[in-house]
Amino acid sequence: MKKVLLLIITLTLIAFYFSSISAEKPGQAFRADYDGLAMTPPMGWYPWNTFGQEPQNEKLIKEMVEALISSGMREAGYLYVGPDEGICYYRASDGKLTTNLERYPSGLRGLGDYIHQRGLKYALYTDAGTLTCSKAMPGTKGHEFEDMRQFAEWRTDYLKIDWCNTKGQDIVQTYTLLNEAQRAAGRPLVHSLCSWGVGEPWKWAAAVGHLWRTTGDICEPGKADWNSAMKIVFANEKLYEYAGPGHWNDPDMMIVGMPGLSEAQNRSLFSLWCMMAAPLIAGNDLRQMSESTRQILTNIEVIAIDQDPLGIQGHIIRQEGQISIWGQKKLFDGSQAVLIFNQNNSPSQVTISWDELGFSRAASLYVRDLWKHQTTGPITRGLSVTVPPNDVIMLRLSRSKDFPLPPIISADTYLISLHSKSSKPEKLSASLTIHNVGTVDLPLWKVQGPLPPWLSVKITKKGKNQIITSQINTAGLSPGYYHTIVRLDNTEPISKRPMSAFYYEVELEVK
Ligand code: GLA
Repeated sequence: MKKVLLLIITLTLIAFYFSSISAEKPGQAFRADYDGLAMTPPMGWYPWNTFGQEPQNEKLIKEMVEALISSGMREAGYLYVGPDEGICYYRASDGKLTTNLERYPSGLRGLGDYIHQRGLKYALYTDAGTLTCSKAMPGTKGHEFEDMRQFAEWRTDYLKIDWCNTKGQDIVQTYTLLNEAQRAAGRPLVHSLCSWGVGEPWKWAAAVGHLWRTTGDICEPGKADWNSAMKIVFANEKLYEYAGPGHWNDPDMMIVGMPGLSEAQNRSLFSLWCMMAAPLIAGNDLRQMSESTRQILTNIEVIAIDQDPLGIQGHIIRQEGQISIWGQKKLFDGSQAVLIFNQNNSPSQVTISWDELGFSRAASLYVRDLWKHQTTGPITRGLSVTVPPNDVIMLRLSRSKDFPLPPIISADTYLISLHSKSSKPEKLSASLTIHNVGTVDLPLWKVQGPLPPWLSVKITKKGKNQIITSQINTAGLSPGYYHTIVRLDNTEPISKRPMSAFYYEVELEVK
C-alpha cells in the first residue's frame, strides 16, 4: 500500500512538473494561429530610446531605413521600422486620422511604400486611450474600427499600442476590441501591446496580440540607463513560461550602442535579450554607430539563439551572488544555449556541469563560443570559464560539431508595383528575392489562399535564396488600380516549426 501511495505521489509530482514547465494550456488561443506572424521574436528599429518625439520625421526614418540596409542589419533579420510617438498624425474634424504633413511630407502611406520598397516592414504607434502618453497625438478610444482601417490603408505591418490615458478602461476588453478592429480592417499586422506589465498581459494577450511589454520604459529618451535595464532583465526573466512562437514577452527596445554603455555592456545586453527570446528592436542611432556596436547587433550566431524556431525563453538556472547562469534554451537542432553573466567588477571563474543543463554528465559535447566564433571539444562533464567583469560568455553546446543556423530571412522588397502601358491585354512580371543567412536550406515557400484571377506566383530556388515571381495578366481587367497582399507560408522547414508567414504587396495600374 505504501509503495502504491509513493508511486501515486511520484507520478503526481512528475505530472505537476511537466504541466508547470510550460504555461501553454491545451486549446489556448494564439493570435499567430490565424495570421502566422511573429513566429520568432520581431526584429527592427524604433526611434523612441534615442530621439523621443521631437526630432522624429520622415527624413530621420528614411535615413534609418538606409542605415539598416547599409549596416547589414536588414540581412541579419531586422525588419520593422517606423515612427514611435513621433507626432506623425492628428485626428481631423471628420474623425479620421490624418498625416502630419509638416513632418511626413510623403504622407504616412508614402512612407510605408518607401519602407516596403526598401525590403523592410512598416511600424507605427498608437495608444488605447484617449491620447498618447505625451498627449501630443490622439488615441484610439472610441475610434477603434476607423483607426485600424486607417492603419491598414497606410499599410502598417506592426502596430505598437500604448496604455496611456486609459482611465476607467478595462485592459482585456480594450485590447480585445482593438484586435477585433484589426481583423475587421483585413490587414495582417503584428500587434505589440505596451501596457508596461499593467494587467499582466502575459496571462491573456497571446489571443489578441503577438508581444507585450512586461515592464516600464528601459530609459528616458537619449539617456541609456544600465541599472534600469538590469531591473527589466530580472523581471522579464521570471515570465519565461509565457513566451513562445507568436507570443513574446517584450522587455522593451534595446539600448545597445547608446552613449554611456561600454562594449561589454552592449554585448551583455544583446546576449540577455537573445537568451530571453526577446523582440530585438534596436533603439540606437544607426547612422553613427561604431563598428563594435554594428558587429554586436549583427552577430548572426547570437541572433540565431533569439530567432530559434522553438521559441523557448531561456532563464536563470543558477545564481551565485553577482553571477547568473542562464540555460534551458533548447534549440531546434537539439543543441542548447548557455549564458554566463558576471555583474562583478572583477573577472570571475565559473564552472558549469552538463547535468545541471539537462545533459548527462558523460555526454560528449562540442562547445561553441558565440562571441569568439570558436568551437572546442568534445568535452565531458562540464567546463570552467573566466568571465571578464560586467561581461558575458555565451555558449552553444551540442553533441555534433555542426552548429547549424536556423533560417533568418530578409527580402529585397515587399512591394511589387506594375503598370500596364496600353489598354491591350499585357503580361507583366516582377520578382523579389528571399535571402536566408541561416545555414538551413528551406523548402519552397508556398502561396496560401486564393490569388486574384489576374495574378499568379512562381517560386524557384537559387542556392539558399528563393525567387518569388509575380506574373500578371491584364486581360479582362478594366482600367483602374488593383492591390492584393500575397501570403507565403513555409510550414515544414527542417526545424519542423512553421516560419513566420511572408506577406508582400502587389499593386497594378491598368490603363
Ligand atoms: C510609453 C512607451 C514608450 C514610448 C512612449 C512614447 O512610455 O512605453 O516605449 O512609446 O510611451 O510616449
